[in-house]
Amino acid sequence: MENSALYIYKAIGAVQGVIANATTLDEALQEGLKTIVEHSGADGGAIWYADKTDDNRLRPFFWIGPVDLTSRSHVPGDGSVGRVFESQTAERLFEFNALQDVETAIDFAGMPVGSMVCVPFSNNSEDLGVIQFVNGLDSDRFTDEGADVMEIMAMMAAIAIEESEALAEPWKPGEIVMSLRDITREFQNGDIVTKVLKGVNLDVYEGELLVLLGESGCGKSTLLNIIGGMDSATSGTFEYLGEDLSNATQEQLTEFRRDNIGFIFQSYNLMPNLTALQNLKLIAELVEDPMDSDEALEIVGLEDRKRNYPSQMSGGQQQRVSIARALVKRPKIILADEPTAALDYATSIEVLQVMEEVVRGGTTMVMVTHNEEITRMADRVVRMRDGRMHEVTINRHPAHATDLVW
Ligand SMILES: Nc1ncnc2c1ncn2[C@@H]1O[C@H](COP(=O)(O)OP(=O)(O)O)[C@@H](O)[C@H]1O
Ligand SMILES: [Mg+2]
Repeated sequence: MENSALYIYKAIGAVQGVIANATTLDEALQEGLKTIVEHSGADGGAIWYADKTDDNRLRPFFWIGPVDLTSRSHVPGDGSVGRVFESQTAERLFEFNALQDVETAIDFAGMPVGSMVCVPFSNNSEDLGVIQFVNGLDSDRFTDEGADVMEIMAMMAAIAIEESEALAEPWKPGEIVMSLRDITREFQNGDIVTKVLKGVNLDVYEGELLVLLGESGCGKSTLLNIIGGMDSATSGTFEYLGEDLSNATQEQLTEFRRDNIGFIFQSYNLMPNLTALQNLKLIAELVEDPMDSDEALEIVGLEDRKRNYPSQMSGGQQQRVSIARALVKRPKIILADEPTAALDYATSIEVLQVMEEVVRGGTTMVMVTHNEEITRMADRVVRMRDGRMHEVTINRHPAHATDLVW
């Protein structure tokens, strides 16, 4: 960290700037937190919000960092975050060894913490929550000067919260449908081993639209294929509805996939010699309680195209058939790998609109994309970098597909 008053002014100016330019409180806090974390060089940061309907249990509102805090919470008075909330006094811990000091270990969703700064925030009438910054064991420890800056910036974020009329409720995730822990995936070609996934920890929640964003080659498709039972991890655990599938046989994975997962691919993967309706019926025959194929085509707005072959339909229409084909199974989860990458803008929006309807109808969906704009319609966004989760964010108010522009 730069060691000068100029640095402090710059950092404060940057936070002021993003908060002033934000159009919603969510954006102000999310961008504010991101800026503070970037300027302070911290590994992670979180805004914890007291849930007034649950004895002020502190739930994550936004966070930045390589961990998934979604289902984490703190009880007031308990642990650093809980203590800071109850005392409304900031805490700094600079020389902490999470590995030796197990009893008082600071938990940032399993990431061993080396130093931490926690700042409370409140408005005139009540205590609202805590802003937390952490550095991992392997990173530099925070300094007093750095902590001063974090506290000032956190206070500015707190003022933004205070001035805002609309106080959001903490985000409460649904049940965990899938749970991935320390997932790695290596590919071996001759003597060369390529490490593609380097330890992914992720939960998927019932009914959410989870978007996985990242540059080409960062491991998105590999991860999606593991989630869908099309590929197995090299190491780590994978649970579906509490059932451990980490060591499942090919046969068990095929069954899991058939009964629970619907896939949507960038290239549609429809059978060219079958009509739209026949493509659906082929899948319907494989499962126990399929949706009526005509009904599925109606949902995607293609009832008048059921006798068309794929070659007689546009890309967008073919992708809608492939969404209908996924729906026919009544799957618990739909996995979509770059579903709009081959489509023009207007057609992409049509397809995304259908996907939005499907999710809001109750189906859980994990969508992979490299299009940043699509993240706006997600409930949660996981940003991946080089085989790891780099950042997880929550959208408190997801945009509609029709609001997206690129
Ligand atoms: N079967 C394989 N053998 C070797 N390398 C692979 C294999 N599959 C994927 N990879 C490599 O893994 C990396 C990530 O691939 P992928 O998951 O498809 O990335 P993304 O979907 O994010 O573009 C790429 O560098 C790719 O070349
Ligand atoms: Mg891919």
